[in-house]
Formats: sequence, structure tokens, C-alpha cells
Amino acid sequence: MLDTAKNRLLTEVGAGSPMGELLRRYWLPIAAVSEFESISVKTVRLLGEDLTLYKDLSGTFGLVDRHCPHRRADTSYGFVEECGLRCNYHGWLFDENGRCTEQPYEDVAAPQARFKDKVRIKAYPVEAHAGLLWAYLGPEPRPLVPNWEPFTWKNGFVQIVFAEVPCNWLQCQENSIDPVHFEWMHMNWSVRLEAAERGGDKLGPYSPRHLKLAFEEFDYGFVYRRIREGMNECDPMWTVGRVCLWPNALFTGDHFEWRVPIDDENTLSVTWAFSRVPKESEPYVQERIPAWHGPVKEAESGRWISSHIMNQDFVAWVGQGVIADRTQEHLGTSDAGILMLRKRFQNDLEAIGRGEDPKAVIRDAQVNQCVGLPIAERKLLMEGLPREQLLKHPIHGRQIVEGYPFQLGQPKEIREAYLAAMGMSSAVKEVLK
Ligand code: FES
Ligand SMILES: [Fe+2]
Repeated sequence: MLDTAKNRLLTEVGAGSPMGELLRRYWLPIAAVSEFESISVKTVRLLGEDLTLYKDLSGTFGLVDRHCPHRRADTSYGFVEECGLRCNYHGWLFDENGRCTEQPYEDVAAPQARFKDKVRIKAYPVEAHAGLLWAYLGPEPRPLVPNWEPFTWKNGFVQIVFAEVPCNWLQCQENSIDPVHFEWMHMNWSVRLEAAERGGDKLGPYSPRHLKLAFEEFDYGFVYRRIREGMNECDPMWTVGRVCLWPNALFTGDHFEWRVPIDDENTLSVTWAFSRVPKESEPYVQERIPAWHGPVKEAESGRWISSHIMNQDFVAWVGQGVIADRTQEHLGTSDAGILMLRKRFQNDLEAIGRGEDPKAVIRDAQVNQCVGLPIAERKLLMEGLPREQLLKHPIHGRQIVEGYPFQLGQPKEIREAYLAAMGMSSAVKEVLK
């Protein structure tokens, strides 16, 4: 339980708020590179700031204020030039560093005044990495965009998936260190949903119960370990576990899920999912990393979608309220990780108050060549399996047969590209239909 003041402290993300300042010390994924094949300008709301993300004609990305510093026109209706974004109202041109490089009328009428040198637009750095566009809203010197180990892997099909979830980011991130929900929200609820769909009311069988949990901190977050019925302590879920990645992600080995604060009341869910191709498809080089946005509500009923794993998580997150009222919660032993996470954020706030870096900020280029993480299925993900074995794999095989399991709404062409990467001929696809 937290008191009202602590709850506010940990959930507010706007500029000048303590957590807002802390989260600004990290690069945050905000969009996909491939989105900019069909658009050149996109609106972005990040940490409560309204911004315009663009790719100019020379291929440079910029992230600038949504409002032009001249008379406040909406820069997302601007258009890109060779270098920079031009406001559509009076044509002022801005580059990715926030410099005003042209003021068409002023440049003619009063060139000696060099008014443009006195005007800047708010601008933040953007970097493309692993198919994602990352933004940094914090103080200089900026750290490095983390080069997490899976970003260096080969022979994989990667896709990026977004969803906008209308609640505060912290309750989403607390889900990253919540092992028991897996048993109930994903396994057992799915059993009951499927039974209901078939018109029955079958009660089970429910999945193996959690018997033992452990949480521990490491350089880039926390690890949680679990023992469920039928498992022993040699199981990778105990020896390696899963990762609550600092400061705002879950990492499961084959995918990352970032919870990116749009503002205090909305979160952008960003998934980067890696599917290892079968050995027969090696060497596989992915030409482009596709991206898609999934819905969160059923169109007809207006209820939250519950058919896919992350959609189920979204149900939990939004169900806690727009900003979970932590003065009303009752934490048990399963919530030990959540307490550790909150404590670490408080320690991080103190660290930045002392002028230090918070946890997991990476500045060493040597370290960033490849930042290793705990990965339970490392061998499978790095070395791959023959197609036959992959098809029989309980998780990865199921994805080939049944489709993307994490979020509803994968576009057909991305499903096709995935199956092609997996070396699934149309004949095999026919059999699997
Ligand atoms: S408002 Fe943008 S150029 Fe005038
Ligand atoms: Fe979950």
C-alpha cells in the first residue's frame, strides 16, 4: 500500500515531476522505422508532451514541438524538406536540432535582422535502432540507446506491435514483476474463456499452481523465478527466470514489452518480438522489420479484448483504474517484486537528486556492443531448431500453427511474411488451416 502522495510521486510523468524527470533519463521507443515508409510525419505524445515526429527527405528523423514557435500552428500538418520540417502556416523551416533555418518572408524583408537565429523549436534526439525509433527527452550528455542482446541476433523474424492502453504506465510495469498472474490471467482464464466460447462451462483443468517465487535485482532490472507444480529447481524458469527490465519493460527472452508513458493516464505498449527461423531457413536476413497497431476494445460490445495474451494483460491494467489507487491495495507475498520495484524507483529518484545516473543507464560503448540479459531459451533462440521440432514446440510451434499469440489484429501480410520466414510453403499452410 502507498499513501496518496507516494502514489502521485510514482505515477506522474510530466516535465518537472520527479518520476517524469527520472524517466527522461532513458531512451524510450516511440515508433517503428518501417512506419515511415508510408508517412513522413506523425504525432507523438510522450511523457505528457505533444510532439511531432518526422523523417525528412534526406532520411533524418526529428522530434519537435507540436506547436510552431512563430504563432503556434500544428507542426504535424507541416511538410518535410531535404533538411527538416516546414511549418505549413508561414513556411518557417526547422531542423532536427531545433534550429530555425528559414523564415521565408523575414529572410527577404529583414535579412540583416537574422530573426531565425533567435528562434528555436523544442527538439529532442531520435535514434533508429533494431527497427524502432527511440527518443530521449532528458538532460545532456545523453546515454546510449541500449543494444540489448537480442538486437544482435541473426536468423530471426522480428515484428513490432503497438497498442494504446488508457491507463497509467506504472501499473503496466508492475505487471512485469508479477509471476502469479500468468497462472490465472493467462492460463486459467483462457481455459474458462475457451470453454465458454464452446458453449460449455468446463471448470478445468487448471494449470499447475505456483509453489515458490524468488525475486532478485541485477544490473538492468529484476529477475523473477518461479516453481510451479510438477517443476523442479533445474527448470530454466527457476535457474534463469524472467526479466523486469529497467525502467519500463518486460523481457521474456524472445520479446520485449515496453510500457511507454504517453501521459499520466495513457500508455503506449511497444512489443519487439523475435521468432527464430528453423534451421532449414538459414541463413535468413530480414529485409524490413514490419510494425502494426492492435485494437484494445471489441468494436461491438465496447468490452476489452481478452483473446490474446497481452490483451489479457491490458484488461488487468485498465481494470485497476486510470491511475491505480494504491492506498486501497492489499499486497501479499506474491507482490514482493512490486515492493522491490517501487523501492528502486525511490532510490533512483534520490540518485538523480544527487546528480548521479539512475539504474541501468548505459554510457560505456564497450558494454553496449551487446548487453547480455538472462534468457531461459537462449539456445533455441540463438541456434534454432529443425522445422519438425520447432513445429512441435509448445510455444514457438503454436505460433506457426495458430498465429501471433500476444495481441489481436496482426495484419495478414505480416502473418504471411512471418510464415515465409519460417519456410512454411503454401501447401503446409493449407494443412495448418
Ligand atoms: S505559425 Fe509556423 S510559420 Fe507561422
Ligand atoms: Fe501477462
